[in-house]
Amino acid sequence: MKKTIAVSKGDGVGPEVVNEAIKLMKIIADYSEFEFEFQEAPVGGNVWKKYGTNLPEKSFEIIKNSDALLFGAAGLPDLPPGVAESVILKIRQELDLYINLRPIKLFDNLRDRCPLKEEFIGEGIDIAFIRENTEGLYANKGAVLNNDQAENLMVYTRKGCERIIKYAFEYAKRFKHEKVTSVDKANLLSPSKLWRQIFHEIGDEYPTLLKEDIYVDAFCQWLIRAPYKFQTVVTGNLFGDIISDEGAFLIGSLGMASSGNIHPGKVSMYEPIHGSAPDIAGKEIANPIGAILSVKLMMQESFESISIAQEIENSVEEALLFGRTVDIKKEGINTLNTSQMGDLIIQKIKENLKK
Ligand code: IPM
Ligand code: MN
Repeated sequence: MKKTIAVSKGDGVGPEVVNEAIKLMKIIADYSEFEFEFQEAPVGGNVWKKYGTNLPEKSFEIIKNSDALLFGAAGLPDLPPGVAESVILKIRQELDLYINLRPIKLFDNLRDRCPLKEEFIGEGIDIAFIRENTEGLYANKGAVLNNDQAENLMVYTRKGCERIIKYAFEYAKRFKHEKVTSVDKANLLSPSKLWRQIFHEIGDEYPTLLKEDIYVDAFCQWLIRAPYKFQTVVTGNLFGDIISDEGAFLIGSLGMASSGNIHPGKVSMYEPIHGSAPDIAGKEIANPIGAILSVKLMMQESFESISIAQEIENSVEEALLFGRTVDIKKEGINTLNTSQMGDLIIQKIKENLKK
């Protein structure tokens, strides 16, 4: 099965972590029926400096003609906020990637890095955040900015709510979750009122799944108080942005968290949640696991290979027993640089795929 992968390494630590993800994909190709052809599609801040755009037409053509996009990070400290980063929003909008899947799983052998006390971790943390990815404030409708006033319009449509909420219930069914939680602010925002109504309409079509809704402020508290209560969590664009960063630190480091920007059946984009991390860029110490677990999501969502996806996750978990990058370091376990961490995971996946 031949797949063309567009690769946008981007800025900062992007290239360092994406290189490890590519190394892993080459091994997967050696041990499976997959064949990957990688095509570089430069985007981001460095590209903006050269060409005056963060998404050159040529790169976007490569992306549109690929089977999936592997993305690193966009952002440079010497550019105004958003100049580089907006490439992510453009790709999401242009390709209509309405799902942002952001799983947060605390590996048992990383519990020492979770900032919560044992009593709050409880039975463990394994949550799939499903964030609406094209509507709300991110659609940038009617934005106004002058010296006296600034506004953004938050618009949610029935179509936009239905498709993301439906995906969430289907996801819960696929992964045998018992409950779907919807996070909104229906005590204030009109879009949340429509969202909540649609959540219940669609939820009623899944009588075997429990459904609950919760206000975003309360959810932020419950996420650190009893994270084990949540399985599939579906929410709007801005709330999803915020709670997924909160969740990402619960699994030990932002560097561990992966994401998929997905439109089922179309070109989708896979990227670590962390940004370009300019403070550590070029030092070869970034954690490549967020990028590697994004490949897991690519295999699972775009290429429907659940077994390889699972082996990637298993290999990461096993590798953490023998070595870790500095952001999750532990006494008695080797501290590794970016490529050593990648190599260790590769060693594990070779063993696992051979079986
Ligand atoms: C993310 C990022 C983006 C977002 C930024 C870079 C615009 O924070 O992917 O979560 O807010 O969606
Ligand atoms: Mn974010």
